[in-house]
Amino acid sequence: FVNENTYNRYVAEGREEEFHRLYEAALEKVKEELGREYPILIGKEEVRTEKKIVERSPIDTSIVVGVFQSGSVEDVSRAVDVAKAAFKEWSSVDWRDRVELSLKAAEEIRRQKFELAALMTYENGKNRFESVAEIDETIDYFTYYAHILEENRGFVREMESRIYRNEHAYSVMRPYGAWLIMAPFNFPAAITTTMTLGAVITGNTVVVKPSPHTPLLPYKMVEAMRRAGFPPEVVNYITVENEVIAKYLETDNKLDGLAFTGSKEVGQRLLKQFINIRPRPAVLELGGKNATIVTAKADLNKAVEGVFRGAFGFGAQKCSATARVFVEAPVYDKFVEMLVERVKNAVIGDPRRRETFLGPIINKAAVEKYRRFIEQAKREGGRILVGGRVIEEEKSYLVEPTVVVDLPYTSDLWRTELFVPILLVMKVDSLEEAVRYANDVDYGLTAGIFSEDPKEVQYFFDNIEAGVTYANRVVGSTTGAMPGVQPFGGWKGSGWTGRNAGGPYYLLSFMREQARTWYD
Ligand code: SER
Repeated sequence: FVNENTYNRYVAEGREEEFHRLYEAALEKVKEELGREYPILIGKEEVRTEKKIVERSPIDTSIVVGVFQSGSVEDVSRAVDVAKAAFKEWSSVDWRDRVELSLKAAEEIRRQKFELAALMTYENGKNRFESVAEIDETIDYFTYYAHILEENRGFVREMESRIYRNEHAYSVMRPYGAWLIMAPFNFPAAITTTMTLGAVITGNTVVVKPSPHTPLLPYKMVEAMRRAGFPPEVVNYITVENEVIAKYLETDNKLDGLAFTGSKEVGQRLLKQFINIRPRPAVLELGGKNATIVTAKADLNKAVEGVFRGAFGFGAQKCSATARVFVEAPVYDKFVEMLVERVKNAVIGDPRRRETFLGPIINKAAVEKYRRFIEQAKREGGRILVGGRVIEEEKSYLVEPTVVVDLPYTSDLWRTELFVPILLVMKVDSLEEAVRYANDVDYGLTAGIFSEDPKEVQYFFDNIEAGVTYANRVVGSTTGAMPGVQPFGGWKGSGWTGRNAGGPYYLLSFMREQARTWYD
């Protein structure tokens, strides 16, 4: 398995300009696709509803990205029926054939890499580097999970039977049935894919329900999988308003599994509803309130760049975003001064432009949330060193990356996931104190440290409560996990299965073990 890693490859090969040319040509090319209508896909049937969901681009709200159907509870129910009916046959397909389909889907997406990245920029406002990186991550899931299935020979193992000579024992991992896949707006290609593929490559069938803010890339993923040869009844796609799903789940007793990525509050509510009817598996990837620690032994250039990128990349709309920084006293003033300088130099604006670091946040509601949190930080005694203003909220949703210091620890902003670019910084006296603060939240997703002392790094790894940990990560402190390299998932309130996406054990969450023993 080799990561896709497109941008770095172009740079390494001295073809950086070509990377930009290809992306810019794709931006032009996909214009003709904008505004199209997309159906709900239930098996081979294309469903159109009277009510529509009109998706507007956060980079320019006069652009309609696509027009989607607004499905009903009955539509969801029908899609689940189709997925359930397809399960028996699909689950008996040889795992090697599923591996092959996955590799074909990877190829299908690779072929349209720059177009899909350009659509991503229109769909959720990611800049070109982040958009291409997300399509890369998506391709990586297709190739990596295929690799994992191969490495484990389809998760069938002969057990050692030494007691009875005539005994033959096997452990076989088998799928559950039909899953509902609920995807978030922030990674509409990659996160949709990790859950969808995790389910289907192991023999389950799915109904994919994207975020109503970003239904296009999930549609493209489902389309690519179907083109690659995944049967349409295995990968269904339904656009509905969130309330419709909540209503459907109130009484659903048909689904066999639920995979959800989103906030802790919504995930927990859905999980309760889901298992209240009967115990069923759920894969939940929830929020984070991720800390980075900067010790007196840090290389401050690395720390500032890493924290800047981790905190403000994609407007902090990542569950992995750096939200809190704990800095040891001797380097605190210098670190803060350098960070503020770095933030002031960040280019904010239209993500179609090459130099843009930060494009818009997702919608008006996010802008309102940003404003509310800024007011709260000020009211509770925080000091805003840079940022804090809304730049644009009608034609696009641009806000300034913000650094807050001196916020009293009693403020619940220290413990709440914000999902907008507001970073809290605190001075601490020691690494131990920093780790205590870092762990003092209900979340445990990602964490970072900057220190050139291996002993400090080891202490951090051993004591931090988080599923994804990094030392001296300049490309984004707590963010940017790569499939097959940094398995991504949370501890505590950040996750549910303890098996990380893009890691060697992820697929096990979509299967149950069957012991098979016979005697001759
Ligand atoms: N996987 C992404 C990251 O690591 C977040 O979902 O940043």
